[in-house]
Amino acid sequence: MHTAKKWIYAKPFVNEPTLENFQLVEEPVPPLQDGEFMIRAMYLSVDPYMRIYTLNCPIGSTMIGGQVGEVIESRNVEFPVGSYAFAQVGWRTISVCNPAMFETRKPYVLPDFGDLPISLGMGALGTVGNTAYFGFLEICKPQPGETVVVSGAAGAVGSIVGQIAKIKGCRVIGIAGSREKCQWLEELGFDGTINYKEEKMAEALKQLAPDGVDCYFDNVGGHTSEVVKGQMKPFGRISVCGTISMYNDEPVRVIDPQRDFVWKQLMQEGFSVHRWTDRWFEGVEQNMQWIREGKIKHRIRMILWKHIARRWYSGGGDKELARKWIYAKTFKGEPTHANFRLETEPIPATLKKGEFLAQAEYLSVDPYMRPYMLAYPEGSLMIGGQIARVTKSANDQFPVGASIFGQFGWRTHTVCDPSRVEKDKPYVLPDFGQLPTSLGLGILGMPGNTAYFGLQELCQPKPGETIVVSGAAGAVGSVVGQIAKILGCRAVGIAGSDAKCEWLLKDLGFDGAINYKRNNVYAELKSAAPKGVDCYFDNVGGDITETVLKQMNLHGRIAVCGTISNYNSAISKVTDPQRQFVFKQLRMEGFVVWRWNDRWLEGIEANLRWIREGRLAYQETITEGFDKMPDALIDMLRGGNTGKAIVKL
Ligand SMILES: NC(=O)c1ccc[n+]([C@@H]2O[C@H](COP(=O)([O-])OP(=O)(O)OC[C@H]3O[C@@H](n4cnc5c(N)ncnc54)[C@H](OP(=O)(O)O)[C@@H]3O)[C@@H](O)[C@H]2O)c1
Repeated sequence: MHTAKKWIYAKPFVNEPTLENFQLVEEPVPPLQDGEFMIRAMYLSVDPYMRIYTLNCPIGSTMIGGQVGEVIESRNVEFPVGSYAFAQVGWRTISVCNPAMFETRKPYVLPDFGDLPISLGMGALGTVGNTAYFGFLEICKPQPGETVVVSGAAGAVGSIVGQIAKIKGCRVIGIAGSREKCQWLEELGFDGTINYKEEKMAEALKQLAPDGVDCYFDNVGGHTSEVVKGQMKPFGRISVCGTISMYNDEPVRVIDPQRDFVWKQLMQEGFSVHRWTDRWFEGVEQNMQWIREGKIKHRIRMILWKHIARRWYSGGGDKELARKWIYAKTFKGEPTHANFRLETEPIPATLKKGEFLAQAEYLSVDPYMRPYMLAYPEGSLMIGGQIARVTKSANDQFPVGASIFGQFGWRTHTVCDPSRVEKDKPYVLPDFGQLPTSLGLGILGMPGNTAYFGLQELCQPKPGETIVVSGAAGAVGSVVGQIAKILGCRAVGIAGSDAKCEWLLKDLGFDGAINYKRNNVYAELKSAAPKGVDCYFDNVGGDITETVLKQMNLHGRIAVCGTISNYNSAISKVTDPQRQFVFKQLRMEGFVVWRWNDRWLEGIEANLRWIREGRLAYQETITEGFDKMPDALIDMLRGGNTGKAIVKL
């Protein structure tokens, strides 16, 4: 009969663990039953996750964790005596293990490591190495020449991530907590290091990665993560592996990251390495080969504690006048009339070959105008899309009488040569039949396509899942919820008035609607989405998003469409969400709808078909008169619209 020693979780962790939290006890090891084997620990792992996972364990439990050891007795042919195995049996010296009792993280016999130490089965050739291998390569998908930042870089996972990034031809910057660690990372071939305890991280990172960061492997969350996220390049990818900076404490408040997610179309995904259980040995074998080739150096001992192009041409000698709104004064806070100036200019009397003259019929006011205009100098034409009628033409593709959509800005008349427009070219509207052409600004235009592609491509909702959409009664949000219903999902909307919520429930068929101005969103969402949230279509960012993220389900998907809650104000702080990303393996991606330009008509035609079938309803909030453009924008940003906000000339 063997006697085992084991460590017990004796007292709940509060902040940093102390010796008081643990107790060492002995117990006899029972004889084996069929299917079981007995393992004697050789190396035990201490991992950051233990600090938080253990909180779910009752006092008196054996401390959780993996170990590699030798099989010393066996009644299971797959675990012969003398073999080395990895098993998640906790902090124990001798354990009886029945593999059939494990649903996940099953024990396994280590592959032949040759002359490499067995302890690597817990590190570079086990969970740690696979976390780096799969978590980095599968989520960040690094390309040669890209800049990769790794936090917790001198740790078990981080040091391997950095080395794999080098193998893939990337520039690697590691963030670690001491000079010695940074020096070691440089020996490993890291191109740059930041000692976050002594250097100013934001400035140091700007110097090391002046063009920005393509991939970020986040091991720490908190302020480090906030800084790196702030310096991501467009289409950057973030793999959220852990949030060790907050394991001993409550999550910190960080700058709401959602705006960057939209503008830069960033993606972040949390993961647990066990999602790649079926490819486990692929990772182990590859890492083993890289170690043998000297491309990955390992440390045997870990010390843990330790937009928008418009083209118009004005000629001379003309009688008719076009009117246009000028961005007269840089926006600060909520837009006011002082930000705009109405001007006139002559409309050219003659057209050159390829040009047409379009007269605006409906103009759009959209949330993006508020943040986008900040990039334009005072005196610029206000940007925006419009539905216009071609009144003169020297271009066969745009015949007189055609209804077109064009990004012509806030102007009544536009002369345009489409061949000279680089992006967002004007197009003739598809045949809407009896439906108003104004829908080309809303449900049958950019906002409709934002909902159509953003929801389906990024959230990938499945029938029966719960979809939450914020800004739900607006142009995009109202379509998102309805498409979710068409796809067989449960749709819950968050909007800013009782009347809006009633519209969502009674006319659009939403299953739940929450008035965020009157009710507690957290509590209301708990009852509107009792099984949790599978997909979140984020139009607003800020507090609402913080609340919804807390109720996401495992493998939840978040499409970040907009962050209107901070368009008129400074970006707010929110509770760092990274921890949720790891535990629930969430995936979040920001997007700009133009990424689906090559499929533009697909979205419009699908939404048109659904309207004709009575499955999609719409509403427009119409302001009359070109003079009222600024009022319409101000009102929309205050929530005055239901459905698409437009101005009719
Ligand atoms: N990524 C893209 O390609 C893309 C394309 C189109 C639109 N968008 C984004 O999608 C979002 C919705 O656009 P939309 O055209 O459909 O506008 P919209 O929802 O029709 O109009 C804006 C609405 O935002 C809500 N709102 C204003 N301040 C808010 C706050 N502090 N918190 C929560 N909600 C607030 C108001 O409704 P309430 O009464 O409910 O507050 C208002 O009616 C915006 O963020 C926009 O930037 C992104």
